[in-house]
Amino acid sequence: MATLVVVGAQWGDEGKGKVVHLLSEKADYIIRYQGGNNAGHTVVFNGQEFVLHLVPSGILEPGKKCIIGSGVVVDPQALVEEIRFLEGKGIKIEGRLFISDACHIILPYHRWMDQLRETQQGKRRIGTTRKGIGPAYADKVARVGIRMADFLSLRLFRELLERNLKEKAPLLRKVCKLSELRREILEKRKKQLPIIKDLVVDSAIMINRIVSQGRNVILESAQGTLLDVDYGSYPYVTSSNPVAGGACVGIGIGPTQIDRVLGVVKAYTTRVGEGPFPTELSNSIGKLLQEKGKEFGATTGRPRRCGWFDASIVRHAVRVNGLKSLVLTKLDVLDGIDPLKICVAYRYRGKLIREFPTGREIFKDCKPVYIELKGWKEKTKGIQKFNLLPQNAKRYLSKIESLVQAKVSIVSMGRSREETIVIDKDLIDFNF
Ligand code: IMP
Repeated sequence: MATLVVVGAQWGDEGKGKVVHLLSEKADYIIRYQGGNNAGHTVVFNGQEFVLHLVPSGILEPGKKCIIGSGVVVDPQALVEEIRFLEGKGIKIEGRLFISDACHIILPYHRWMDQLRETQQGKRRIGTTRKGIGPAYADKVARVGIRMADFLSLRLFRELLERNLKEKAPLLRKVCKLSELRREILEKRKKQLPIIKDLVVDSAIMINRIVSQGRNVILESAQGTLLDVDYGSYPYVTSSNPVAGGACVGIGIGPTQIDRVLGVVKAYTTRVGEGPFPTELSNSIGKLLQEKGKEFGATTGRPRRCGWFDASIVRHAVRVNGLKSLVLTKLDVLDGIDPLKICVAYRYRGKLIREFPTGREIFKDCKPVYIELKGWKEKTKGIQKFNLLPQNAKRYLSKIESLVQAKVSIVSMGRSREETIVIDKDLIDFNF
C-alpha cells in the first residue's frame, strides 16, 4: 500500500503515459498534479491507441479512479471533448473521474494571449503549445484566476469574467471582439457545466482520505523536469512544476505521504519547442531517431527534436526529484545504431562543466562532451527478460546508471504493456 510519484526526467514525452498505464494495474487511484492540455499521453490499450491530454491514462483501466488535482489548469472545453471521446470508446467516467474545485480554468482569452505573446516574441518565442497554459498560470499567481469552484456559480463566474475581460481588453481588442468573446464563453459554459459539475470535488480532502486508507496511489506529472518553471531550462519551460515536489502542492498532501519517486527517461533525448538542446542531432541519426521513434508531438503534431542521451540533464533530474529508480523507454529505437554516444559533461568557453547550469547564457553555449559505446545489431523489441538483452544494450544501461546515479528498474521497448522488462518487480507490486 503506497504512494508513488511518476515524473519525466528529460524535456517531456519520455513515455510516462505507458509507464503509468503499466503501474495502474495494481493502483487504486491515478492523480494528475500539474500542467494542462498541453500534455499528450499516448497509450496503447487493447490494441487501440489513445491520446489523452487531461484525464490520467489510468481511466483506461476498468475500475480505477482518477483525479485531476488542484495544480492542473483545466480548459473546460478540452475536458468536455476528452470525456466525450472516452465515453464514445465505451469508457465509463461517472464515479471514476474527479476534478479539484481549486483547479484554475483556461478560457479562450488565455489562448489568445498565449498566441499573441508567442508571435510578438519573434525569434525569442518559447514554442509553446498555444493552449493558454502560461497565461492561465500567470493569472493564478497574479490572483485574478478563475477556479473550478468559481466556474460552478454563474453569478461569481460572470463577475470574475468581466473583471478579467476589462483588465485584458487592451490586448484582446487587437485580436477579437470582446462582446463576441464574452458571449462565446458564457454560451459554452452553459453546455459544459452539466458534464463537469458532478465531477468537481474538494480533492485535498478526498486524496488525504484515500492515502490514509492505505490505497495504492500514483501521482503523475505531465511534461518533464527540464520543462519545470523553477528547475528547467528557463525561460524555455512550461509554467508549472513537473518535479516531484510539485506533487504535494498540486494535490494537497504533505511530503511525508510520498513513499517513492520514479523517473522516466527515454534511451535518447527529445525536445519539442524552442530552447537550447546541447545533444541535438541535425544529421541522419537525428532523422532516424525521429522516424523510428515516431517523434511527433502528441498535442501539436510538431516534429520532436532528437539527440543523444544527455547524462548531465538526467543527473540534474535525479537530484531535484530525489530519484533512485528509472524507467528507460524506447531502447529498441537504438537497435542497429553503432556507435552510440552519451553526453557526460559540457564544454563552455574552454571550461568543462559537469552539471546542468542554471544560467541561460551558459546553457545556450554548452557543447556536449561525449563518450562512445558500442551499439548492438539484434532486435530488442519483444525481449522480456533482462538477461536476454544484447550484451552491449546491457552495457549501455549500466553506463547510464553509473553516470546518473540511479537504477534502471524497468526497460520499455514498445508502446504496449507486453513490450516491457520489469527488473524491480516490487515497483509493479507497489511493494515499497
Ligand atoms: P506550454 O506548456 O504550452 O506553455 O509550452 C512551454 C514549453 O513546454 C514548450 O517548449 C512546449 O513545447 C513544451 N511542452 C509543453 N507540454 C509538453 C509536453 O507534454 N511534452 C513536451 N513538451 C511540452
